[in-house]
Amino acid sequence: MTEETTQFPILSCEGMSCTIAARPAPLQVLHDINFSVSRRKTLGIVGESGAGKSMLIKSIMGIAPTPVRVEGRILLDGIDLSTLKPKARSQLIGRKVGIVFQNPMTSLNPFASVGRQIEEAGRFHLDLTRTQARERATELLRVVGIADAKDCYDYFPHQFSGGMKQRIMIATALMCRPDLLIADEATTALDVTVQKEVLDLLQILQEERQMSMILVSHNLGVMAGRTDHILVLYGGHIVETGPTAEVFRNPRHPYTGALLSAMPRMDQPAHARLETIPGQPPSLSNQPRGCPFAPRCPSAQGLCHNDMPLMSREGDHRFACHFPLTETSVSKEVSHG
Ligand SMILES: Nc1ncnc2c1ncn2[C@@H]1O[C@H](COP(=O)(O)OP(=O)(O)O)[C@@H](O)[C@H]1O
Ligand code: SF4
Ligand SMILES: [Mg+2]
Repeated sequence: MTEETTQFPILSCEGMSCTIAARPAPLQVLHDINFSVSRRKTLGIVGESGAGKSMLIKSIMGIAPTPVRVEGRILLDGIDLSTLKPKARSQLIGRKVGIVFQNPMTSLNPFASVGRQIEEAGRFHLDLTRTQARERATELLRVVGIADAKDCYDYFPHQFSGGMKQRIMIATALMCRPDLLIADEATTALDVTVQKEVLDLLQILQEERQMSMILVSHNLGVMAGRTDHILVLYGGHIVETGPTAEVFRNPRHPYTGALLSAMPRMDQPAHARLETIPGQPPSLSNQPRGCPFAPRCPSAQGLCHNDMPLMSREGDHRFACHFPLTETSVSKEVSHG
């Protein structure tokens, strides 16, 4: 047996759901989420704005922006997070997972030097001395491509461009040598050239450091050539998941097919909205009884409006649709930007 087959995934979610404690009624944001992230592999999570991508990441990490009830099993490095006390849980997550979000200014403290901020995670989670943390943080600034790392150490966030700030966030995320790096729309706010540079950097770091990675984006274009598996979220449901090449070649869910047709190319602004799919995503307070995509789906039939489709499986490829696409209806060339 190879080393690969003896190891359990770095992250697994089994039957996970997430409900916001809202009035007058609770709002379910995520429904029956099942997936895992293999060692040294990259999973892409894609879906329109509001699909639940960030809630998924934040619920797993225990940092949801609002009180939520999370059910199901979440295993990090084989450990069921629900069995841990809050302190042990956040320590495990802090050591094993590094996260980079879209807006570095909400994560970076404008009043502290970037070096001190990168150091902090190492001092907190790894008990490094000040000198050890400073050495590692300086080295990480170099690793993420910041020239003059020693001088930049004492600079403040506003002295860096958007792309450089994201590199600093990546350095911060790497401080505890995570096994899993999560980039949640980390390049969405950047212009197209810088977006590509930062995505390339993430990919290089993932390979060099043998990490697993979750790349979250509304832009299917960034997934091609950068992810091993892909997970398509719609209205808080996984509607399709599988090996990226297979899903791109042979999308079975009409929403994935629509996303592929509407895919922004790398020569378009990274934050371009996917406006070519007519209609609106489902509202949390008024969720359809049947398939969540039914109100917008060109293939919808009566059954779709009444019955939630079950997940079908073809090898590693899973999709939830009563009338799946049967042949590749997307002829568009896939950009490998
Ligand atoms: N703090 C919050 N309070 C209430 N609802 C929220 C909050 N954050 C997100 N939501 C809702 O949860 C759903 C998923 O949001 P989110 O995970 O941020 O989507 P995505 O990251 O895919 O754009 C959306 O319908 C959004 O309106
Ligand atoms: S189940 Fe019906 S409505 Fe939903 S995606 Fe499939 S064909 Fe469309
Ligand atoms: Mg988000």
